[in-house]
Amino acid sequence: MRFDVLTIFPGFFTGFLEHGIVRRAQADGLVSVGIHDLRQFTHDRHRTVDDRPFGGGEGMVLKPEPLSQAIESLGIQVKAERVQAEPAPPRVILLSAQGQPLRQAVARDLAGCERLVLICGRYEGVDERINELYCDVEISIGDYVLSGGELAAAVVMDTVIRLVPGVLGNEASSEFESFGAEDGAITADEAGVPRSQHGSGGLLDYPHYTRPAEFRGLAAPPVLLNGDHSQIRRWRREQQLRKTLANRPDLLERANLSEEDKRLLGTFGWRRS
Ligand code: 6GU
Repeated sequence: MRFDVLTIFPGFFTGFLEHGIVRRAQADGLVSVGIHDLRQFTHDRHRTVDDRPFGGGEGMVLKPEPLSQAIESLGIQVKAERVQAEPAPPRVILLSAQGQPLRQAVARDLAGCERLVLICGRYEGVDERINELYCDVEISIGDYVLSGGELAAAVVMDTVIRLVPGVLGNEASSEFESFGAEDGAITADEAGVPRSQHGSGGLLDYPHYTRPAEFRGLAAPPVLLNGDHSQIRRWRREQQLRKTLANRPDLLERANLSEEDKRLLGTFGWRRS
């Protein structure tokens, strides 16, 4: 899978690209990333990428000409002139606080593309004609204000890269995390041992523990040490329900809940809506 990022801060991405799963995915040839400096597509002495907004108001807006040239340098045409019926056409994404929220389902969709082009907004925004002419989707990573789209582009890349087949050592592991598979398809662990009738089911993940069994006077839950896997499964499910009720009660509305889940949630003070 190929990523191309357009930014006025190309150096921002070096640390991100050189660590962990993202680094390994590139080293293994599963992913390649090009970072493109918007200023290389300016022609004036000051390498101007921004200008004052028409109509007045705060801040500066990214000018359309350098962005347009940068996008076309990647072989991307305006939407109206793109050839249809390509099997996996590149997806052009504008990162902006006005975008649709990034969700795991959005990431899964993007992971099915062979190529993503990520345009990082800066200043107060990007000339809207760039969005209209070139962008297939506008994405936000949450309801808060960032200084620019670079962090958001890194978040999108990280989220998508770990869904690229072969990137995670164990293909099943992303499906067990919070927001992982929600379709009830998972029936076995990495060793093929049946362990659950479902994935996370749209719930937050359960808490994890490792050695030592006691740390600063706190014992790891004994149930995790006794080797009874059906008991462990029940305990983890209960913890997922508790955590989700405490931190993300909104997720319970859409979660895949059994009658036993609902009964347990009731004992934690949840009221069915
Ligand atoms: Cl993609 N950009 C900016 N500037 N702020 C954001 C965002 C993006 N997503 C959430 N807040």
